[in-house]
Amino acid sequence: MHPEYEEIKNLVEDNLLRFLPETESGSSILYDAMKYSLEAGGKRLRPVLLIASCRAAGGSYSDALPYACAIEFIHTYSLIHDDHPSMDNDDLRRGKPTNHKVFGDDMAILAGDGLLNSAMDVMFSDIARHADDGSETEKRIRAAREISASAGVRGMIAGQAADVRPELIRLDDAGKLRYIHRNKTGALIKAAAAAGALVGGADEDLLGRLSHYGEQIGIAFQIIDDILDVTGDTKLLGKNTGVDAELGKLTYPSLYGVEKSRALAEKATDEACRAVENIKDSEFLKFLALDLSDRIS
Ligand code: IPE
Ligand code: IPE
Ligand code: MG
Ligand code: MG
Ligand code: MG
Repeated sequence: MHPEYEEIKNLVEDNLLRFLPETESGSSILYDAMKYSLEAGGKRLRPVLLIASCRAAGGSYSDALPYACAIEFIHTYSLIHDDHPSMDNDDLRRGKPTNHKVFGDDMAILAGDGLLNSAMDVMFSDIARHADDGSETEKRIRAAREISASAGVRGMIAGQAADVRPELIRLDDAGKLRYIHRNKTGALIKAAAAAGALVGGADEDLLGRLSHYGEQIGIAFQIIDDILDVTGDTKLLGKNTGVDAELGKLTYPSLYGVEKSRALAEKATDEACRAVENIKDSEFLKFLALDLSDRIS
């Protein structure tokens, strides 16, 4: 792993639980269920991207950290719900039994809800801490809005809804697929780059570039995820493969085949790299994009 990736990932992992609110004593199973999925591991792509983007804009780790942890809470909640029997019905995630397998279907829904609300709490608390400084408040509010909007009904939730009910989208298959990917996965990844840029104090030009970078990475990322569902190794991925075909999902490999899908992922990765050409830390940002498109796990 790239030393900078490892450094940021460790920083995030050391702080994730610090930002998770304690529950009342009668709800300790709820806390345990949230902690279980947060601690199960994962690549931590979104928080790493957020912090890298903040740094590229000249900001500091500590300013970005609450937003980085909040976005990982949201992502982790989305995985718990995605794996739920009412959705993809998966039993393996991040190399461990899925949340509902350990804590029950009901508690898995609530742990997901809890993580989502905790993310909002973490961001609002950070905004409140900076309430006496107008410019600091404004950039944080914009970052929080990027994250909350992208996770919502014009972003991730819209994409997940279309993923489970593609027949309700009035587009051809290629259009549906683009819509699903851009929203269910792309929106939150784009928001990670944009929110990092905002907290770091980027001007509008840099914000635009980093957002475009995040958007293209997000698209490439889900294409690769679809490919790995066909070609990947469960042990390395920490999740079952062949699930998309079993559920009859509309995916890049099912529509275009694996080779053309790879080419489309590469095209998006190249565009991501071009967007961050000649900016501070562009080498690490480009490494992130290329590493994701080469990934096997
Ligand atoms: C999995 O996301 C779900 C998708 C949006 C494709 P990741 O591949 O980032 O999962 P973790 O966080 O590394 O477990
Ligand atoms: C999930 O997409 C996207 C979100 C969780 C929002 P997938 O269903 O393809 O993710 P995996 O393959 O189960 O990780
Ligand atoms: Mg799914
Ligand atoms: Mg799934
Ligand atoms: Mg998948």
